[in-house]
Amino acid sequence: MSFSIGPTSSGSGPRTLLEDFGSVGEQNGEVYNPRVVRRMLAYLAPYRWRMVAALLLTLVEAGLTLLTPYLIKVAIDQYIIPANRQGLARIALTLTISFILLFAASSFQRYIVSWVGQNVLTTLRADLFTKLQYLQQAYHDRHIVGVTVSRVINDVAEINELLSQGIITLLGDLVVLIGIIIVMLSMSPRLALLTFTVLPIMLAATWLFSRQARKAFRKTRSSVAAVVGDLAMDINGIRAIQAFTREKASQERFEQVNLKNRDAYINAMNLSFIFLPGIEFLGMLATVIVLWFGGHYVMGSAVTLGVMVAFLSYVNRFFQPIQELSRIYTTFQSAMAGGEQVVELLDTPLEIIEKPGAPELLPQNGEIRVTGVSFRYNPDSAEVLHDIHMVIPAGKTAALVGPTGAGKTTIANLIARFYDTTAGSITIDGVDIRDVTIHSLRRQVCVISQDPFLFSRSIAENIRFGNPAATDEAVMQAARQANAHDFIDRLPDGYNTRVLEGGVNLSQGQRQLLSIARALLTNPAVLILDEATANIDSVTEALLQDAIARMLKGRTAMVIAHRLSTVRNADLVFVIAEGKIVEQGTHNSLLKMNGLYRQLYERQFMDEPGT
Ligand SMILES: Nc1ncnc2c1ncn2[C@@H]1O[C@H](COP(=O)(O)OP(=O)(O)OP(=O)(O)O)[C@@H](O)[C@H]1O
Ligand SMILES: [Mg+2]
Repeated sequence: MSFSIGPTSSGSGPRTLLEDFGSVGEQNGEVYNPRVVRRMLAYLAPYRWRMVAALLLTLVEAGLTLLTPYLIKVAIDQYIIPANRQGLARIALTLTISFILLFAASSFQRYIVSWVGQNVLTTLRADLFTKLQYLQQAYHDRHIVGVTVSRVINDVAEINELLSQGIITLLGDLVVLIGIIIVMLSMSPRLALLTFTVLPIMLAATWLFSRQARKAFRKTRSSVAAVVGDLAMDINGIRAIQAFTREKASQERFEQVNLKNRDAYINAMNLSFIFLPGIEFLGMLATVIVLWFGGHYVMGSAVTLGVMVAFLSYVNRFFQPIQELSRIYTTFQSAMAGGEQVVELLDTPLEIIEKPGAPELLPQNGEIRVTGVSFRYNPDSAEVLHDIHMVIPAGKTAALVGPTGAGKTTIANLIARFYDTTAGSITIDGVDIRDVTIHSLRRQVCVISQDPFLFSRSIAENIRFGNPAATDEAVMQAARQANAHDFIDRLPDGYNTRVLEGGVNLSQGQRQLLSIARALLTNPAVLILDEATANIDSVTEALLQDAIARMLKGRTAMVIAHRLSTVRNADLVFVIAEGKIVEQGTHNSLLKMNGLYRQLYERQFMDEPGT
């Protein structure tokens, strides 16, 4: 994560968290989104036979669940009351076998479903990660890291809930419910209808609960995203926070989102705390109804004792699926909301698109030609580059100078095609960069940024990053050419020293030497170097300049220059201001022009040693 203290010209400026996860809270919020369901079913498709097996097992489970009270009824009416011991033994045996089957079916079903669920999730997470890898810079500019992470982890977990217990349980519960209704009606329609009187109340309660729960859970989800996003952002910016001693403010801000999350959660939970016991209460009421009326019917010989006992048992089982159904309903809702986020991310169009069958960009001389290029970062933001024309002949070094915010880094981003130009074209050796594969383009064009990113891996791995096949020998050679070998050698573990997150255990100069070694190892034809502005001690500075000079030799290069020596050594200098090339020529010819370059020179470069 790049990081800077104080105001910075790059980036789209401060962005409030709310803007980003606002979209989470404001989605269309359908309970059933066919697009999401279709996509998730596609993920399930490879496991369809396993799912069918799980479904069959669920049906077996449902059937056995229905059978038990019936067997009890038979036992009471046909064997216990007439005192038929043999028959009772048979029933007991049948019951035992059915329980064993129930146990086997149930555990096997759970096993299959969670196995499938985890496999689908792994694929889904992998797809999301791949997508994030290939999504253009512009996407990452617009999205907060924490929210993206939350999407890959939390939203996918919500979908897992649904996959692993939702769909199948839902079907099983429905079968049990309908089965119980049918069996009760056929055993004693009168008693069944009496028992069902609690149903309307229950359905109304469920409907009400679901509506409230939906709102509550939606709030919970967006507030979770807020907490994660805030946490990630503040941890990334921890140095800035400490530098400006803003810990308290940051803590208060976090506390606010954190409390909001708590309240949303408690709110959602409270609902289910009322609802679930409520359903249970209604179930008990139904039991009383069965006992009271059933008892009278038994006394009046309208129904047998077995039927009444079976009813008691069915009533018990009847309300379980209803509770379960409302729980699945909420799971379904949050999975749908999570799914929306995930599908949206999966379907984000790639803006930097490779033409089908695009050829590779072959390593040649590397003449860079920028023709009539204009650029805006977003369709609705201001243009930052206006009609830029630049030609950098093969093998030459051009320096690009200009005030901060002029658009220098932006030009570098365009040449490596991190963004596509809004108008105009960029060619390398006469080939439009949009006509070749992105991979081959980025192999030939290496960008060393102002603040090179190092991964928390070993030094060797960091150097090898662009060329994983490089031998240890080659890594060391690159480090030597980059003047990095000596300092690496002095580190406790040499090339195996682990770089800490953000490269904090290395000085800025050392980080730059490493990034030069990394670039050298990929041996690009075109180099774009965004010189760092930071002050570096004079020894490292000398090493750096020496390494840069060596690196530029024999390549076409554009150096965004902040040092006089770089500008002086360049074959050609472009001066950019407010997104326009205003002057171009050699250092000496530009000085004579007495224009912006001269001003910059006097302000920026004069006080450098060796002027
Ligand atoms: N990712 C981005 N999204 C939106 N606007 C951006 C983005 N990056 C830069 N800009 C804007 O584009 C303009 C040019 O920025 P750029 O980073 O190219 O300047 P620069 O010349 O490299 O400055 P510096 O010398 O400070 O590095 C600025 O107005 C900046 O705010
Ligand atoms: Mg810049």
